[in-house]
Amino acid sequence: MPTTGIGYSNAASALASRIDICPVSELPPGDSRRVETEDFDIGIFNCDGHLLAMEDRCSHDDSVLVEEGGFDAAACTIECPRHGSVFDLRTGRPITLPAYEAVETFPVLVEDGVIKIELE
Ligand code: FES
Repeated sequence: MPTTGIGYSNAASALASRIDICPVSELPPGDSRRVETEDFDIGIFNCDGHLLAMEDRCSHDDSVLVEEGGFDAAACTIECPRHGSVFDLRTGRPITLPAYEAVETFPVLVEDGVIKIELE
């Protein structure tokens, strides 16, 4: 399945800056990686061809998600390793308690074969 640069965001993007993540070939379907920026630690996910980005911080009690959480590429969700909230990576919204606030998401695009995310 071809990789597409579909991004879902609850972040304003009018004055966005782009950050290079990696070549598309280095993030195949079902894979994820974590990047650190000045303001956020961000998880980049390949949900069976759809590239999505979400802050790597649980809205319940700040747990990291990418490296210890349960990423489900088919469902496009990640489960927090501490208390089990499941987040929809398309929206950042929790599907299960105890988290009830959304996590920030970021637009993802592909330019010249390189995955990029947009930040405000
Ligand atoms: S820290 Fe993630 S559910 Fe509690």
